[in-house]
Amino acid sequence: MTQSPTSRAVPAVSARAAQLASIPSFQRVDAYLRAAASRGQGQTGVCDFTFGNPHQMPADRYVNTLRDALTPQNDQWFAYQTNGEAAREAAADSLSRLLEVVFRPEDLYLTTGGFAAIALALKTVADPGDEVIYSLPPWFLYEPLILEAGLTPVKIRINTATFDLDLEAIEAAITERTKVVIVNSPNNPTGRVYPPELLLRLAELLEAASVRLGRRIYIVSDEAYNRIVFDGLRFHSPAEFYPHTLLAYSYGKTHLSPGQRVGYLALPPSMPDRDEMRPALSGLQVAMGWIYPNALLQHALPELEKFSIDVGQLQRRRDRFVDTLGSMGYRMQPPEGSFYIYVTSPVPDDEAFTESLARRDVFVFPGVLFETPGFFRISLTANEDMIERSLPSFEAALKESRP
Ligand SMILES: Cc1ncc(COP(=O)(O)O)c(C=O)c1O
Repeated sequence: MTQSPTSRAVPAVSARAAQLASIPSFQRVDAYLRAAASRGQGQTGVCDFTFGNPHQMPADRYVNTLRDALTPQNDQWFAYQTNGEAAREAAADSLSRLLEVVFRPEDLYLTTGGFAAIALALKTVADPGDEVIYSLPPWFLYEPLILEAGLTPVKIRINTATFDLDLEAIEAAITERTKVVIVNSPNNPTGRVYPPELLLRLAELLEAASVRLGRRIYIVSDEAYNRIVFDGLRFHSPAEFYPHTLLAYSYGKTHLSPGQRVGYLALPPSMPDRDEMRPALSGLQVAMGWIYPNALLQHALPELEKFSIDVGQLQRRRDRFVDTLGSMGYRMQPPEGSFYIYVTSPVPDDEAFTESLARRDVFVFPGVLFETPGFFRISLTANEDMIERSLPSFEAALKESRP
């Protein structure tokens, strides 16, 4: 009797899909969320500081912008959209003002958010087997994006005293297979905004290494939070110092609307490989599954560029937490940007500590999810009511943790 092909012990999923499903960071986040859900996370009344999700109604201006963009102005309004001209121009103007460098509209590649922009950047410059260096604690989804592209993650630690990049560790991690260094500023989860001197030294280091190896190392600059900066600090991009930088951006942070998928990948005007990259980028945008933002968001983009969420409100929440938790005895570096505060756990076992907060209906992410035990992350996108209600619980959990 012949065996049917389906009766053999052939896995139903590809090796790549199986590898992705078993990434520890995926599994840890999943396990944490399941445990948190069983403890009541997501239910009314609990204080949820986990994801950078909104916990208040969206601004009228945001809703009206989408509503206006929905009204067709011609019969092609909902036709296939690639890199829409008006959207590209508005985004390039805005980025040029932010960085004081003139970006050309044709160097902006519109994507379904920052995720797709990072994936596009990796696939544009790196081949399977190439290595991608990034720093811990990271945004926990770099690893799946790197593995899905057939690349090899190389993890190093930041300087946990300053939350700065550890340039010596980056240098030591470079091999003849290194193709990309991911830089994320303003940083998730530390809130650090890297100073220009550090970015300049990184640029010098990568230039020297590229010359030494005879092979270009690129920076993928993850700037999802480049509009979320506090205290009037000026944001600097690695693209200002290192021309071989691909810059990934997401409107999901600027408008606190991560469910509306729109962002871009930008090449700086100084990028020497621009002409070679253009057709590759356009081809990948289609081949990766038509990763352009949908028509509605492209029509809305010129107006979306004119405003953002209330960054002052986020800063006031940061101040409330930093002052109050600080006076209770928690240790943390005040974030300079992004949505997050990365607090030192009062006990080395950050999971046990976050569990004790969860028993009090306060949910934060433990540092193990970011491969840096001994910390926990608070998201400032929670509302004021949650913040005020959580403070006695933070105090009680701290007291309980002390012998
Ligand atoms: C550092 C960082 N990069 C990229 C992203 C992806 O942004 P988006 O979901 O808007 O694509 C996020 C989202 O949390 C992030 O925190």
